Amino acid sequence: MKAPKPKAMKPPKRFAVGTPVRVVLPGIDGIEVLRQIKKRNSAAVVLMMSAYHMVDRAVEAMKLGAFDYLIKPFHLTDLSATLRRAFEMLALRVRVRDTVETAKGQYDFGRVVTMNPAMREVLEMARKAAETDHTTILILGESGTGKGVLARAIHYASPRASQPLLELNCATLPDALLESELFGFEPGAFTDARRRKEGLLERAHGGTLFLDEIGNMSASVQAKLLRVLEESTFMRLGGIKSIKVDVRLIAATNANLKQIVAEGRFREDLFYRLNVMPLFIPPLRERQEDILPLALDLMKWFNQELKKNFVGFTPSAAELLVRYAWPGNIRELKNVIERTMILAPEGDIDASSLPEEIRKNEAPLPTLNEDPFREDPLVTLRELEDEYIQKVLAATGNNKTHAARILGIHPTSLLRRLKKEPSELN
Ligand SMILES: Nc1ncnc2c1ncn2[C@@H]1O[C@H](COP(=O)(O)OP(=O)(O)O)[C@@H](O)[C@H]1O
Ligand SMILES: [Mg+2]
Repeated sequence: MKAPKPKAMKPPKRFAVGTPVRVVLPGIDGIEVLRQIKKRNSAAVVLMMSAYHMVDRAVEAMKLGAFDYLIKPFHLTDLSATLRRAFEMLALRVRVRDTVETAKGQYDFGRVVTMNPAMREVLEMARKAAETDHTTILILGESGTGKGVLARAIHYASPRASQPLLELNCATLPDALLESELFGFEPGAFTDARRRKEGLLERAHGGTLFLDEIGNMSASVQAKLLRVLEESTFMRLGGIKSIKVDVRLIAATNANLKQIVAEGRFREDLFYRLNVMPLFIPPLRERQEDILPLALDLMKWFNQELKKNFVGFTPSAAELLVRYAWPGNIRELKNVIERTMILAPEGDIDASSLPEEIRKNEAPLPTLNEDPFREDPLVTLRELEDEYIQKVLAATGNNKTHAARILGIHPTSLLRRLKKEPSELN
């Protein structure tokens, strides 16, 4: 016989924490009630009670997400212990949600300061990529450009925000360790493997795995990672069972992947698998309009961190900051601002307080979005000489003897340069 329609046992629309929902429906399948409740609100904490001990049903109820299954008659202390655990779990869940909200605010795209058109485009693409649940994302850019910051912003803007975000820097671990960190291992997989260990892939299930410095991966790890991307499965080291995972991968590198593919150090198939959604963060020197807004943003941050009261930069300090090439990008800018704020007097930071490498920088200030050499194209020495010779000739009224004297060369040398015969000497 079919169970009656769920209409009769429709739970209240909203489950506030602590609202007991009592379902007195003789002959109706409690499991079905549970199923319906969970369908409407998967977060509801459901405590099942039954007069009979039926192991199958208890197991099924737990599988469907019941919090606990009590057999009547039970002692009130059992019930209160179970309820205490339920409330502890709810409190924990609220805490986790708060943490996620805080992280969301901290790693919000809105916090990435930029006025640069190329960077804005990157952020726009990143925002769209975040919304897709599974797309693999590859973040490219020099060291210190904020690849990690962007990866976190993507995770926290994605549907996976409340699931784990795990990070691994592939450049910092020796090969064997990298492999066991990623894939985990079974007991006996190698000498020290006494107990089973879950790898990051398993622990990131449902969430995001951020692999930094992916260009440094060995061939064997590359092959295994390719399999994860193609089939969503992998095996623990020493394991024989394929494990299926649902993980979004974000990879980052400051290496030129195409080049290391050409050099045979990176699998081409893996490169194409990763390169679905490449996001290139331009170096800071190519987004000079962002230097001062970023510097001010960092100043605000360090005012809080260091309990200081800095206001801004004097014009000469601002000019030096914009003029400097920032080989270490935002990371270097951040360090410079922090160091200066620790040492300099509060108020406006002056040029004299900036570190030496920035004060000593004498490169001319390129005009924004303009080729600095457009006005004055670079030429060969020969072309420069020819141009100067013409200038001197014009100034001497084409008097070659006079011109040669000014140029400091013998008149015949001048004629040779002009491809003229000595008889033409005037
Ligand atoms: N948009 C930004 N605003 C403020 N700080 C930033 C920004 N982008 C990066 N940073 C800071 O710069 C440093 C380098 O960023 P990170 O993401 O580690 O760069 P990468 O991974 O490219 O080397 C970090 O300390 C980070 O907090
Ligand atoms: Mg990094």
